[in-house]
Amino acid sequence: MILILLGAPGAGKGTQAERIKAHFDMQHLSTGDLLRAAVKEGSELGKLAKDYMDGGKLVPDDVILGIINDYMKANEGAGILFDGFPRTVAQAEGLDGFLKDAEVKVVSLEIEDEVVINRLSSRRSCRACGRVYNPALGIKPAGDACECGGEIYQRDDDRSETIANRLNIFHTQTEPIIEFYGARKVLYKVNGNGAPDEIFKRVKETLV
Ligand code: AP5
Repeated sequence: MILILLGAPGAGKGTQAERIKAHFDMQHLSTGDLLRAAVKEGSELGKLAKDYMDGGKLVPDDVILGIINDYMKANEGAGILFDGFPRTVAQAEGLDGFLKDAEVKVVSLEIEDEVVINRLSSRRSCRACGRVYNPALGIKPAGDACECGGEIYQRDDDRSETIANRLNIFHTQTEPIIEFYGARKVLYKVNGNGAPDEIFKRVKETLV
């Protein structure tokens, strides 16, 4: 099965993806994590992606579809959980071309913009292992550093003006995908409010 997690920035895609991949034993691809790793390495992909990401804009579709094509070839036949992909109708159409007969389900985490703004402005991450903390939720490391020893930082795209850009792009470029998959009757809308485990329970109920 191919499972697509849709949702605004900060809707909780990464948080739910951790639970889904463990519970359903799936491969997990977060295009955001992959691009951040490329930026950290300073690879050609990272150099290209950095300005788009820092400005809260989408990386061009052809670049993303190239990454997905490689990933699909390397993971042929596997159950895959996509987190942060597709993000435009062009990406959704491109994915169709890679899928053959795989069953697709799409979970859309539904959440209001004000909740997203609160979550993202209080998010902190570990520069070394990527672990996410949120002091506003009481999710914080024991000391100043991550438990792995890495530095805790705020993502460049979690500054308030960039959050506004990301939300705007979500509403204009990503939301049309909800209609795209809705018309195919493979879309499940899940309330993204509440505690992460409560939301995961709702996600599981849609997937049985
Ligand atoms: P990406 O990394 O995918 O960012 P995003 O979609 O903006 O998602 P986030 O990671 O911010 O949020 P999330 O929904 O995963 O929520 P999370 O669980 O982390 O992409 C970054 C950039 O890369 C894009 O802007 C773009 O430039 C580029 N990019 C990536 N994919 C692309 C593509 N396909 N095409 C083009 N460009 C692409 O949670 C957020 C916070 O909320 C955390 O602090 C968490 O602790 C907290 N939280 C989570 N759940 C809850 C809850 N239930 N209650 C309270 N707090 C919660």
